Amino acid sequence: CLRKKEVNVLCLGLDNSGKTTIINQLKPANVSPLSEEWKHVSQTQAQEIVPTIGFNIEKFKSSSLSFTVFDMSGQSRYRNLWEHYYKDSHAIIFVIDSGDKLRMVVAKEELDTLFNHEDIRRKRIPILFFANKMDLHDAMSSVRVSQMLCLDNIKDKPWHICATNAVKGEGLKEGLDWLQGNMC
Ligand code: GTP
Ligand code: MG
Repeated sequence: CLRKKEVNVLCLGLDNSGKTTIINQLKPANVSPLSEEWKHVSQTQAQEIVPTIGFNIEKFKSSSLSFTVFDMSGQSRYRNLWEHYYKDSHAIIFVIDSGDKLRMVVAKEELDTLFNHEDIRRKRIPILFFANKMDLHDAMSSVRVSQMLCLDNIKDKPWHICATNAVKGEGLKEGLDWLQGNMC
């Protein structure tokens, strides 16, 4: 498949899962634990992370691609915004709070809704799962998270799951490298 130079990545997941923290780790490059390859090109500086209202747009560059990341709010009242961005997205990052066992079923419901949407169903876009907050003492393993979300049922799209600690930036590079390699 042909590589696009400019790609839109949609970052989804429940509120408090760590989406904005993950995206914030990609900027600025000099304090990021990620490699030189992942340089942030947005003007905004890292600042204290607050719950996202609506969504934010961030831009990053790797050696071969320019990324536009849509950091969506995970709050239930804003989740109806997600579907408006499905059509133009080339990849999805879905973030899960591995310590939030109670809401794993809610995360699965949102994931099922995503996969059943007609703008996603017919697209073979890569889905990267971040099983975030792996540092919490009661965090579920990424294998357990993928079982809870029935990820093995995804047959028509490439997907990958990584355990991450967004506060320290651990696990993010592995996931982003996978995503870049699976982007068409
Ligand atoms: P919404 O914008 O409301 O959808 O939330 P979000 O998914 O963007 O979550 P956000 O990045 O705002 O993080 C929520 C809280 O979780 C913050 O207090 C973060 O510091 C914390 N957090 C994020 N990642 C981790 C992690 O890997 N480990 C721990 N312990 N806390 C984390
Ligand atoms: Mg946020």
